[in-house]
Amino acid sequence: MSFELATVYVVGVGPGETDLLTLRAVKVLERSEVIFHPGPRDDTGFALGVVAPLLRPNQVVRGASLAMRRGPDDGTVGYERVAQLLAHEARQGRTVAFLTEGDPMLFGSGSYVAERLRSVAPDVPVEIVPGVSASSSAAARLGWPLAQKDEILTICPGTYHPDEIGEILDRGGPVCWFKAAAVLPQLVEELRRRGRLDHAALVERVGHPNERIFLDVSDALKVNLSYFSLVLVR
Ligand SMILES: C[S@@+](CC[C@H](N)C(=O)[O-])C[C@H]1O[C@@H](n2cnc3c(N)ncnc32)[C@H](O)[C@@H]1O
Repeated sequence: MSFELATVYVVGVGPGETDLLTLRAVKVLERSEVIFHPGPRDDTGFALGVVAPLLRPNQVVRGASLAMRRGPDDGTVGYERVAQLLAHEARQGRTVAFLTEGDPMLFGSGSYVAERLRSVAPDVPVEIVPGVSASSSAAARLGWPLAQKDEILTICPGTYHPDEIGEILDRGGPVCWFKAAAVLPQLVEELRRRGRLDHAALVERVGHPNERIFLDVSDALKVNLSYFSLVLVR
């Protein structure tokens, strides 16, 4: 039996609050028969939690168990496996969505899955639905513009550049540090050296019920921080 190809949607779900989903994301989720998310189990995951209030019992939900680790994907992260699963659903004629936290195209797992999908299943139509990034959401929360006028905004995945923190700060301009928890001691030290600690804030799980904001970033050294933490420097 042959089926008409359905579309795979890579959907940005924003940083955590359901009402920060875009109208387009809501419409796509409504029409998706199968929903994959990066979480470890079908019923558990950060991105799944954001859309859970909108899902119907007849929609199939699958946790893709993507590994979270740094470095290039040698095949063990699971992007290709997920791409194959998504392509399979689309070829069965089922509209399928893959959820990504924040915006898929900003360090998002959705961007890697979409890339793999285009190479393993070029016949399958893919549409990417942008989402609100954690960086925008944290900026709004703090009331700190990400960038204004002639400023050049740097967005840095901290764990990839632990030895360049001072150099990046010295370039000037606002910086958003993703993956900040793992490099926080170095970041605090370099900010302190430059007398810029009072120009920085750490936002953990922005938009979640257990959100925390540290206006003195050095206070965050005393607690266990989630991976979902970023530092903004103005
Ligand atoms: C791989 S990046 C993904 C960014 C995401 N695609 C976006 O647009 O926001 C993961 C990093 O984003 C930041 N992040 C994602 N969600 C967050 C949240 N709700 N609160 C604070 N930081 C968050 C953290 O720094 C985390 O380590």
